[in-house]
Amino acid sequence: MTQAAAPSAQELYESFIPLGDPATYTPEACDRLARTIAEINELKVVRRAVILAHNYQRPEIFEVADFVGDSLELAQKATTVDAEVIVFCGVHFMAETAKILNPKRTVLLPDLRAGCSLADSVDADSLEDRKEELKKLYPDLQVACYVNTTAEVKAVCDVCVTSSNAIRIVESLPTNNVLFVPDENLAAHVQENTKKNVIAWNGNCYVHHQITPEQIENVRKHLPHVKVIVHPECRSDVLQLADAVLSTSGMIKYAKESDAQEFLVVTECGLSDRLLLELPEKKFYKSCKLCAYMKMITIDDTLRSLKEMRHPIELEESVRVGAERSLRRMLELSA
Ligand code: 13P
Ligand code: SF4
Repeated sequence: MTQAAAPSAQELYESFIPLGDPATYTPEACDRLARTIAEINELKVVRRAVILAHNYQRPEIFEVADFVGDSLELAQKATTVDAEVIVFCGVHFMAETAKILNPKRTVLLPDLRAGCSLADSVDADSLEDRKEELKKLYPDLQVACYVNTTAEVKAVCDVCVTSSNAIRIVESLPTNNVLFVPDENLAAHVQENTKKNVIAWNGNCYVHHQITPEQIENVRKHLPHVKVIVHPECRSDVLQLADAVLSTSGMIKYAKESDAQEFLVVTECGLSDRLLLELPEKKFYKSCKLCAYMKMITIDDTLRSLKEMRHPIELEESVRVGAERSLRRMLELSA
């Protein structure tokens, strides 16, 4: 394993200019960050570690990440990692997914408080009860669970889905009735795009659910030419105003490939940061909210994670095997 070159404080300062946040990324802050990044790069070699990061992470985390992506890309990437350690800069269910798919690796989550309100909205026992109830009405029922769930929930589902493949996977199930857990907004979006009967759970993401159509309409009134790109965890009255409904990486691809120059980004704010950094020649307006869980992962905790090998994700083998079945089925169906 070779050590990646760390940027100098000046290089970092210049690369963060497109973020338009000079109060956070001051020359002094960039000097501190550059030293931490160099230390992390050294430790990655010592520990034989790679860093996987979600698109919502902080800009400085992108600097140390070996791979940045959406939930599906991160799950796919986790299956191919042969380094001994995966430091996961994202939320708990994402690190858990990496451990489920690649159990021989040590998977570290830098801060165990990085959970997900959506994943917390369903537990395996309530899901089993609901499944039993619905099977009386719909004997062919299958359960599709969003990747934003615990391993215990994944273990009692038929297939897992992410924001980028939910419609395709529900369509490919050999059944007409599908219980979709836990995101009611994503379930409604799937229902809009399939003739199957999609029965929703009543969970939602506190970050996306608080975005209102009025906020989008207000921007559209003043900037009618902007392309509105929206994450499917938003409410359906918000999705109706979108030019495109996409996963986080889907939004990046759309902005890169589109002839349009200006976009309204309707999701968590980390994604707008990634777009501002990757496409400085285009303009991105934010109609975003911060996910407190995603932002719990800091560069200092990432360094500490590598130094002290904390916090390893542990799973009971029977749960891991059950969850792996749902995830592998998803990976096969989205190949
Ligand atoms: P993506 O899979 O689109 O990256 O979404 C993950 C997530 O948690 C969105 O809130
Ligand atoms: Fe969970 Fe919402 Fe945060 Fe995504 S943005 S990790 S769904 S709380």
